[in-house]
Amino acid sequence: MPHHLETDRLWLCPWEAADVAAARPIFGDPEVMRYINGGVPCSDDQIRESIFRQQNHFRSRGFCLWKLLLKSDARLIGDCGLQPLELDGVSEVEIGWRLAKDQWGQGFATEAAHAALQHAVEHAHLERVIAIAMPENRASLCIMEKLGMNYERATQKDGFPIVVYARHFGEKLSL
Ligand SMILES: CC(C)(COP(=O)(O)OP(=O)(O)OC[C@H]1O[C@@H](n2cnc3c(N)ncnc32)[C@H](O)[C@@H]1OP(=O)(O)O)[C@@H](O)C(=O)NCCC(=O)NCCS
Repeated sequence: MPHHLETDRLWLCPWEAADVAAARPIFGDPEVMRYINGGVPCSDDQIRESIFRQQNHFRSRGFCLWKLLLKSDARLIGDCGLQPLELDGVSEVEIGWRLAKDQWGQGFATEAAHAALQHAVEHAHLERVIAIAMPENRASLCIMEKLGMNYERATQKDGFPIVVYARHFGEKLSL
């Protein structure tokens, strides 16, 4: 299982406890959090918990929502990857993404998500990956479609209406 993933412009790496300060401007930005939890900035304690959770996912499953580092200057610009998700009583693996606002609109989320999806197939051998988003989050829905994911259903999570997209991987299906 690879320790980190690489794209043309990004490294996708496991988290370290010391990443709280670098993550704060992203996780603590209400605009970034708007379609994740309704726009509530994460406290340092919540960021620490989130890092700890991702470290555990990486240890137990070999994947997580990796931190995204720009290759050009090693700056932490967000997260993207895979994590277990309980949705409507079913255990799933979701793919997700979140970027610092000043990095939106440059194709970074799509670039990272392609690498994460490739990992899901080639290393984690997953047969199904889902993505969820609030229906107003057009950028996220656009990424799901670019990843070849298909609309499955509308439901709710944590009191928010969401849509669910999914992609299935058969033996012979390539990315
Ligand atoms: C969602 C997010 C990660 C997208 O990051 P990004 O790097 O800008 O995304 P990309 O550039 O790879 O792709 C976004 C696509 O959505 C499109 N898009 C962006 N805003 C859009 C809008 N309001 N309506 C329609 N399409 C939109 C872009 O044009 C682009 O498509 P294109 O490449 O065909 O032009 C970023 O906006 C973000 O971090 N948002 C806050 C966190 C968040 O909501 N995470 C997802 C929770 S489900």
